[in-house]
Amino acid sequence: PSELEQQFTAALKSIARRMDVKDYVEQTPQLNRILSHAAKRYVAGDHLQDGMAAGKKLAGRGYSLSIEYMGENTFDLAECEQAAIELKALIHELKLAGMPARVSFDLSHIGLMVSPSLAYSYLMDLAVQAAGTDIELFISMEESGKTDDILSVYNQAAAVYSGIGITLQAQLTRTLEDLAAVTSPRRIRIVKGAYQEPDHLSIARSPELNQRYLQLVEIAIQQGHQVSIATHDEVIINAVLERGWLQDSQAEIEMLYGIRPDLASRLQRAGQPVRIYVPYGHEWYLYLCHRIAEYPPNLYQAVIDMVSG
Ligand code: FDA
Repeated sequence: PSELEQQFTAALKSIARRMDVKDYVEQTPQLNRILSHAAKRYVAGDHLQDGMAAGKKLAGRGYSLSIEYMGENTFDLAECEQAAIELKALIHELKLAGMPARVSFDLSHIGLMVSPSLAYSYLMDLAVQAAGTDIELFISMEESGKTDDILSVYNQAAAVYSGIGITLQAQLTRTLEDLAAVTSPRRIRIVKGAYQEPDHLSIARSPELNQRYLQLVEIAIQQGHQVSIATHDEVIINAVLERGWLQDSQAEIEMLYGIRPDLASRLQRAGQPVRIYVPYGHEWYLYLCHRIAEYPPNLYQAVIDMVSG
């Protein structure tokens, strides 16, 4: 990305995170309505049934599936509980439908902002609900200020329940060490990282970041982890294919719903393992901002979607 694009990305991510802006969007029905049209490109809908319906369609086309109930930074106890109940209901629906999906979520949606032990206890409730099925629980990675807490809750849970995975961000310089610390084979998703981080902790979008990303994937595969290569970056994906990493391992490509569906379909038709990550829920605002921020041309698409909605 050019310097201007990087500045746009940083500016949009920080404006999006301002609570007064979020409140303004939520409390202005007209604005909320038109933005929600733009969000529909990336989000299955507000409700569990919307996530299930989009997931069933994708599964029917041969994709593996992740489903996320969106939300983060929940301080209110009742809202943390509501999020955990929703995730349990999602696991229940997937079981009923016989769909072997991966259920993704932020720990800060289910209690981390109150205390790591609360998030752990809800995580264990989800593990009980998912035990004995091929439904995986998958923890997303959040801002660097939360990384230690997230890894600590994850490690505690993974020691007692194997059907759980963790997301690691290539953009954080610490991730090489965090990956090395995962000694037994686990489920690991590698992403570039969606958050705006201080320069001294992170690597900006660049060929250097792509190199780091590939280095992490290679190490993770060598360590015997089940790796999700979660990116839309064709440079990375082509390098992965050239090196034959998808054939000789349990690795797969994972892409977000509505982003580069052409690429996902091309890979899938060529016989590569592809998983699509479907988010649903009413907390679509930040998610939409991230998807526009990380690829500025999406702004034009969003305007077209808003006008045509
Ligand atoms: P990058 O942003 O460099 O984009 C490379 C190319 O991909 C672009 O040039 C463009 O062609 C295409 N592209 C990327 N984004 C696009 C978009 N929005 N629209 C259209 N084209 C686009 N992050 C995080 O911090 N914590 C997490 O837990 C997760 N979880 C997660 C799960 C899954 C399955 C995925 C795919 C991604 C995440 N992310 C995430 C988001 C991730 O960190 C990152 O922000 C996005 O994947 C975009 O980065 P890329 O790797 O695609 O590369």
